[in-house]
Amino acid sequence: MSKQSQYELLLKQMQSLIVEGIPAEGNICNLLSLLKSEMNLFWVGLYMRTGEDTLGLGSFQGLPACTVIKFGKGVCGTTATKQETQIVDDVTLFPGYIACHAEAASEIVVPGFRDGKIHFVLDVDSAEKAAFDTVDKEYLERVVRMIEGIYAI
Ligand code: SME
Repeated sequence: MSKQSQYELLLKQMQSLIVEGIPAEGNICNLLSLLKSEMNLFWVGLYMRTGEDTLGLGSFQGLPACTVIKFGKGVCGTTATKQETQIVDDVTLFPGYIACHAEAASEIVVPGFRDGKIHFVLDVDSAEKAAFDTVDKEYLERVVRMIEGIYAI
């Protein structure tokens, strides 16, 4: 199955999992769990904006991770500052990379917004190098739109 087809199926499954009347975390953890298992990822999670220029660990699936990241630091902080998706083929080559897990080899981080301001970033890590391309960017940006919608319920 092509990566596009996998993502199309995944988005449909995600949509059918979202329910009203529960905390946002419940829906979001379900989506992240599905994303991690279906796409064979190492770690997936959200870093939430907790101050003017700080991100704090939010809902995630995988091993325990770094808890606080300043805007401009690492891939997540760079995404928050630039307000655009970052794809890193080899994390060892990214200046200022924050290594939460030795197993992570490549990474994609997508910004999420509320009222036009950064609200969170979706951080997705793979144990394989160069795991992410423009197809992942397109679909993970759609996943982020879904998560923005969950926070708005
Ligand atoms: N590697 C990230 C930090 C978060 S962990 O990957 C879960 C970064 O450089 O921002």
